[in-house]
Amino acid sequence: MAMEKRIAKSRIEEALTWRYAVKKFDSGKDLSHEQMNSILAALQLTPTSMGLQLMKFIVIKDEKLKEACVPLAYNQRQVADCSHLLVLCRVDEVREEHITSYVEQTAIIRGLKVPSRQLDGFESMLRSTLKMSREQQVKWMDNQVYLALGNLLTACAVEGIDACPMEGFMPDKVNELLGLTEKGLQSVILCPIGFRSKEDKYASFPKVRRDSTELIEYL
Ligand SMILES: Cc1cc2nc3c(=O)[nH]c(=O)nc-3n(C[C@H](O)[C@H](O)[C@H](O)COP(=O)(O)O)c2cc1C
Repeated sequence: MAMEKRIAKSRIEEALTWRYAVKKFDSGKDLSHEQMNSILAALQLTPTSMGLQLMKFIVIKDEKLKEACVPLAYNQRQVADCSHLLVLCRVDEVREEHITSYVEQTAIIRGLKVPSRQLDGFESMLRSTLKMSREQQVKWMDNQVYLALGNLLTACAVEGIDACPMEGFMPDKVNELLGLTEKGLQSVILCPIGFRSKEDKYASFPKVRRDSTELIEYL
């Protein structure tokens, strides 16, 4: 059925219409442990290419650290006024240990013997990623961090939690502040989460989206 012919909104459509990129968070409102756990589960369960999860999610609660991120995000206050600031990172490059630890974990969780033919084939497929150029690796890994962002935003919407995806920041400076480079990580996107302020006028702005007839094509 074409989208425009439906009358009632589905639960997911309601949630995705309710959400918006928050410009002003209520700095007095924090996420509960349960809410935090649910959001972190959405990040952890994000599917990735071959399942490698070449990423890390940094959770910043420390008020001073969040405040220090404001100038690094071109003075966007969301990074400080939110309940938690999430920094979605990728690893700097694919390494041997990423492959071996993943193969070992798969063997343990799925009860497979090592070496096994099943895992040999799997491992050689994983190893092909080591041969990618640096540029290819970065693009490939960044794409997957964005997938985690999509999951995060949808999970937040469904749980009634506010968020603001943010590319407007200086990754090198954030890496430096958080000591990410030494940990073999690169920040890709910031996502403050929390609750919208009553004063955020953006909450009442009607959504601007291309019409489904323009955006979706049936063949
Ligand atoms: C990858 C990405 C980066 C974004 N960066 C910023 C940002 O730095 N600051 C900001 O206020 N909004 C940012 N946004 C929010 C978008 O402007 C917003 O999602 C878009 O205009 C659609 O509006 P809505 O999310 O409120 O429905 C970003 C969104 C995405 C998906």
